[in-house]
Amino acid sequence: MPDSAIAVKGLVKKYGNFTAVDKVSFNVGEGEIFGLLGPNGAGKTTTISVLSTIISLTSGSAAVFGNDVDRNRDAVRSMIGMVFQDPSLDDELTGRENLDLHARFYGVKGEEKKRAIGEVLKLVELGAYADKQVRSYSGGMKRRLEIARGFIHKPRLLFLDEPTIGLDPQTRRKIWDYIKMLNERERLTIIITTHYMEEADELCDRIGIIDHGKIIALNTPEKLKDSLGGDVIRIGTPAPGKLASILKKRKFGMRVKEYGGDAVEITVRDGSALLPRIIALAEKGKIDVEYSTIKRPTLEDVFISLTGKAIREEEGDANTAMMRRFMGRR
Ligand SMILES: Nc1ncnc2c1ncn2[C@@H]1O[C@H](COP(=O)(O)OP(=O)(O)OP(=O)(O)O)[C@@H](O)[C@H]1O
Ligand SMILES: [Mg+2]
Repeated sequence: MPDSAIAVKGLVKKYGNFTAVDKVSFNVGEGEIFGLLGPNGAGKTTTISVLSTIISLTSGSAAVFGNDVDRNRDAVRSMIGMVFQDPSLDDELTGRENLDLHARFYGVKGEEKKRAIGEVLKLVELGAYADKQVRSYSGGMKRRLEIARGFIHKPRLLFLDEPTIGLDPQTRRKIWDYIKMLNERERLTIIITTHYMEEADELCDRIGIIDHGKIIALNTPEKLKDSLGGDVIRIGTPAPGKLASILKKRKFGMRVKEYGGDAVEITVRDGSALLPRIIALAEKGKIDVEYSTIKRPTLEDVFISLTGKAIREEEGDANTAMMRRFMGRR
């Protein structure tokens, strides 16, 4: 692993008697996009709030580029940018004014400030709207402006808390592109929290799956999915028993089982390579094949296999969660 951007060891955060983050440990290398994936209330925001020195930890330790988040707050703050889960722009100000305020807060001044503002506006393609009031922006534009703002003082590490919550799929893709570009072009280390499987899969080099305050799995998206044993091929046939027994005699490194009385399920590493051979074996045995499907496991499958439940990720839930937060803030 490259230089350590983040080192977390046995991190615990309690709110009164309630343990929101429970002995969490992980490392993030410089230049990585690292994801914390988990359902509502899992402890994602709490974890990155500790790392970004917004709240203090209860026990354990955490460091950002070697600086302890508890003892060396100012050093940590100077290196990081933050995009909060809840919108935090000033609606009355223009996009440019919002950026200006933030730049000044970080001591970016004069020509440098002007250049930085121009650059980040261009980066998220908001130049044409820079002098319009933020209240006239769409949800996606606001989120882009917040990402630009988090980056204006050129941090080495950017925290993105649910960067695309409640946005439509197209806008979400666009934001993923900006995140990838920042990571690649600026070699920016990025920590992202999300409860969208697809987002974690698409963006993250490695993912920590978090549930009830604990990291229950941590690996690359590919390895997490591989941990389920491979692709699942399903062959529909009137003679599942016969087909299963033929396949079981073959040593293709697969697991074979009958499924629902009219199909056979085969779990194997490289499903698409094996499927034609399975069909050929069925033909040779004079077994009718009614249909065949291959399903590559998703992170959702990984989450279900680890926890026995699904991450709720329908838009409705995200909207409900947003609404709840909105009401809570009033
Ligand atoms: N200030 C607080 N006081 C008491 N409990 C809190 C506080 N902040 C968070 N919690 C609780 O800690 C747990 C973790 O919350 P956290 O916000 O970290 O979850 P999350 O994974 O970010 O969830 P979401 O996907 O909804 O944003 C939740 O049960 C939450 O209710
Ligand atoms: Mg959160």
